[in-house]
Amino acid sequence: MLPIRIAPSILSADFARLGDELRAITTAGADWIHVDVMDGRFVPNLTLGPPIIKALRPHSALPFDVHLMIVEPERSLADFAKAGATTITVHQEVSPHLHRTLSQIRELGCRVGVSINPSTPAETLEYVLPLCDLVLVMTVNPGFGGQRFIPACIDKVKRLRALANKLQPSLDIEVDGGINKDTIGEIARAGANVFVAGSAVFGERDYGKAIAELRAAAGAKA
Ligand code: DX5
Ligand code: ZN
Repeated sequence: MLPIRIAPSILSADFARLGDELRAITTAGADWIHVDVMDGRFVPNLTLGPPIIKALRPHSALPFDVHLMIVEPERSLADFAKAGATTITVHQEVSPHLHRTLSQIRELGCRVGVSINPSTPAETLEYVLPLCDLVLVMTVNPGFGGQRFIPACIDKVKRLRALANKLQPSLDIEVDGGINKDTIGEIARAGANVFVAGSAVFGERDYGKAIAELRAAAGAKA
């Protein structure tokens, strides 16, 4: 069994107090810090880039799970690696030379992630799966926090886990969007083991309680 990881998304944090928020979720028991990078082109929203990641790096010892929702990610992979990304995840939909892009992430010394939108089949990743440490299955259309989980993604995670069992058994399968106490159990049983949560953590007053409840609902031992 792969370890269960809860990855709060700082997209839902108070941007005026990001350092404090990072320390708070670290103390509250988060496993990874999920960082949503948006460029206003691949997705309508615009968020943050390498300088802010670099500024945040000293505020937590946890892995930085950097989710790039940007076009032409290959142009800035080195900047994200230098800024302190642990995992760099690019979208399949923006990478015509995905094999090369994923190899570049590996060469930079980061963990390698690839993400697919709700409309993209799991099978599109078959030939790159052996290059990956992580696949991020979007369970909403990317761009904003606080959206509703798309149930069709459960079947996709099952297919992906079956594919991974053949091609890359240690693959982390991460889900992102609309993950909360009510949705996390079924998607965990489908084969996901990393859970991004924005509003389900930062929308609660007690981050520790929110993270513990998600972990319990995902089926982890306390
Ligand atoms: C959406 C982002 C998510 C988002 C999740 O495009 O990739 O990481 O912050 O937020 P919630 O958990 O509120 O759906
Ligand atoms: Zn994300």
